[in-house]
Amino acid sequence: MEASSFIFSKKNTIPSKGQFTWSSPSNIALVKYWGKKENQIPENPSISFTLDACKTKTTLSFTKKENDDSFSFDVIFEGKKNQDFKPKIETFFKRIEAYLPFLKDYHFTIETENTFPHSSGIASSASGMSALALCLMSIEKEMNPEITPEYFNQKASFLARLGSGSACRSIEGDLIVWGKHPDIEGSSNLYAVKYPYQVHDNFKKYHDTILLVDKGEKQVSSTVGHNLMHNHPFAQQRFTQAEENMTKLIAVLKTGDLKTFIEIIESEALTLHAMMMTSMPYFILMKPNTLEIINAIWAFRKKTGLHISFTLDAGANVHVLYPEKEAADCIEFIKNELVAYCQNGHYICDRIGFGAKKL
Ligand code: DP6
Repeated sequence: MEASSFIFSKKNTIPSKGQFTWSSPSNIALVKYWGKKENQIPENPSISFTLDACKTKTTLSFTKKENDDSFSFDVIFEGKKNQDFKPKIETFFKRIEAYLPFLKDYHFTIETENTFPHSSGIASSASGMSALALCLMSIEKEMNPEITPEYFNQKASFLARLGSGSACRSIEGDLIVWGKHPDIEGSSNLYAVKYPYQVHDNFKKYHDTILLVDKGEKQVSSTVGHNLMHNHPFAQQRFTQAEENMTKLIAVLKTGDLKTFIEIIESEALTLHAMMMTSMPYFILMKPNTLEIINAIWAFRKKTGLHISFTLDAGANVHVLYPEKEAADCIEFIKNELVAYCQNGHYICDRIGFGAKKL
């Protein structure tokens, strides 16, 4: 599929106003997206677990307006008018206008809220941008009811990607691939697809307990971090490594090999942060407690033989991953030994989810 196949031209019915609500989850990457080309094209493929509890709920109301020479929208975040998100949404609208030419015909009110606390250090761009993209697709569907559910999801993912790369992996669940990979049929740089091969029971119902180590605003945004991969001395090796890790994961997901799974995902997390530490300018997003938690997980794993592991996104929080069949012991360990490292003892128990829902 080419980008041009997502250009919308048909307007059978033009509603004068309306409203749609979608709830869309966050996701956690196992092989990380870090580095992009123009137009939000990733430098390497990535794969993620869709989450279940961490979600954004967005209601998009639209009313036809007189002039059609500019974008017009208000953002209401958790019940209050919000200016902070406007520039990001304006950029998003500019990027997607060619694919949704009705955008300037309407005034939009975007009411949005997250299930996770605002200042939790959990990025809401994946869940937020995917929820908004889905609401916009609901408008397209009203104008053109013939579009198939498959096209709907593909284009929602395509649009979400233009808002925030990782958002394209939040439309469906439970294992999602974004970025062209020779061994993954149907994979694309333009949108994410469901992982198409066999997945062992070990990876069903996987848990992700998110330990909130630092709830403050990140010093370096993901967008800035991605850009620092241009001219990065290790960039090419990193992109090749991600491709190889995707290939290795295919076998691991099939056989249920938890030991190799852990090796791959922990290496991915640490490599992501190694890229940050070795870019110019360099930066560190981990905090002392991030390392305390990692060391405690390693010691507990060695002692018990349980398959508990971690991954990180672009921040200090730790995602603790473990299979369903070991959940009871892992949760007890987390409560007894890891929660002490969380800011105000805050953590979120999440698990693999199955994608966005229209409400
Ligand atoms: C570390 O999707 O937030 O979470 O495309 O600039 O919006 P933009 O970046 P973003 O980057 C996410 C990076 C990551 C890894 C991942 O989710 O794959």
